[in-house]
Amino acid sequence: MKFILKHCHLEKEYTDCIIVGIFESLQLSRSANYLDSSSNGYITSLLKLGDIKGNIGETIMFYNIPNVTAQRVLLIGLGKKNTITQSNLNLIIKKTITFLKKTSIKNFICSLDEINIENNHHTYWLIRTIVLGIQSSLYQISKINQTTKKHINFDLITLNILKKNDLYLGEIALKHALAINLGITSTKNISNLPPNICTPLYLSNQAKKLADKYSDNIVVDVIDIKEMKKLKMNAYIAVGGSSKNQPFMSVIKYSGNNNINNITIALVGKGVTFDSGGISIKPSTNMHEMKYDMSGAAAVYGTLIMAAELQLPLKIIGILSGCENILSSNAFRPGDVLKTMSGKTVEILNTDAEGRLVLCDTLTYVERFSPNLVIDIATLTGACVVALGECVSGFFANDEELSKQLQHASKETDDKIWRLPLLKEYETNLYSSIADLSNIGNSKAGAITAACFLSNFTKQYKWAHLDIAGTAWESGKDKGSTGRPVELLCQFLLNQSKISY
Ligand code: BES
Ligand code: MN
Ligand code: ZN
Repeated sequence: MKFILKHCHLEKEYTDCIIVGIFESLQLSRSANYLDSSSNGYITSLLKLGDIKGNIGETIMFYNIPNVTAQRVLLIGLGKKNTITQSNLNLIIKKTITFLKKTSIKNFICSLDEINIENNHHTYWLIRTIVLGIQSSLYQISKINQTTKKHINFDLITLNILKKNDLYLGEIALKHALAINLGITSTKNISNLPPNICTPLYLSNQAKKLADKYSDNIVVDVIDIKEMKKLKMNAYIAVGGSSKNQPFMSVIKYSGNNNINNITIALVGKGVTFDSGGISIKPSTNMHEMKYDMSGAAAVYGTLIMAAELQLPLKIIGILSGCENILSSNAFRPGDVLKTMSGKTVEILNTDAEGRLVLCDTLTYVERFSPNLVIDIATLTGACVVALGECVSGFFANDEELSKQLQHASKETDDKIWRLPLLKEYETNLYSSIADLSNIGNSKAGAITAACFLSNFTKQYKWAHLDIAGTAWESGKDKGSTGRPVELLCQFLLNQSKISY
């Protein structure tokens, strides 16, 4: 499937279909209007039949349009003019692709360049959103060992650019979109794998492959349990050490060719390949979804792919904290006291609060790279899902500037986050009579308590924490990874690289 950008003469193009928009109350977009005039009012004459109003996502197909060489014209409802948000546009693209998938169309021209996106209104954002939207609507989970693959794809998608001067912006947008899409797709693919395939070792092997593919810019170190022991990562080992699938921490070091600002950014992902809860075992209903407990690591992996594809001028340390939280006679227990890599001791009150244990040692480990800022991404708490539901990720920061930068990237990409407070008032929740900290609080404010726990280990740098427990995957019979928050992280990095638009 190929994308190209072109300044089209719409009536003269040979293609299976041209996609143009219609706003509410039957107002034709510029491109639609143009085709209507070329065909001496053919489109408006048929609109009088009343089959479409222009509401978001409505579709109607026209055939045999006089004086138009394309085989078909698809009119897609855009809703109210001038109030199209990024998420409306995503919906419009989704509806369009769902419709096209049912046809035999193999190539089409998308002429929606006249849409004004609220906030981000120019060609860069339009093209990027359209390309990412098309790709995400076409994403399919690959079934394990499936012999016949019936993946629906198009051959050629042409994006019409109305103003010739905007072609260069479109080209940049397309390049960025393809790299971001590769990141998102890689994240989804690895997250969707079953936990008997996607083990900590598997994660580390995928990380190593990045060093082969992007050998100019990426070096990967894999820390196994032996090395973890030397490093005194006892909290990480307590969680991961009881599984036959031993823990592996993959350290992906990306170094761009011209690191303009000499900035080092660390991204740390929770990579629990299966979370049974351990001795504090989870209820069996939906426990299978805990294969997605490595979504943070998968997001870091995907984001580094984007960075390498675009050769971002930054230094990025991406860490996949891979391990499995499962039972054996070797399992850690409620009551155990662990000495973390930082030297702080933790009393375990619940072995299901394992993510923070794996992360606290990784967050101490990352100090050796003297990062300017660290972002961890984790499916950390069910409480975050209770608080924010499934469309917004929870987020915390110990630095105002970093917080603003993340919120800005979130607004630009429509990958939604909401800041929750990191106040010292919550710290008493983690009191332990026998250790420096306990690993859970009382039953209230669970997402904040978890972030508070982590904040004890992030004093050396600017830090933000994204709790993606509600946003990383969709449940139900068609369960699957959403690829979030890869676009947000990519945008944050593009902004840091000062190559954003
Ligand atoms: N991986 C889970 C969090 C989770 C739960 C993510 C449901 C997505 C959906 C995490 O390791 C966990 O089990 N957290 C516990 C913490 C509790 C024991 C303090 C939770 O949220 O119940
Ligand atoms: Mn857990
Ligand atoms: Zn977990």
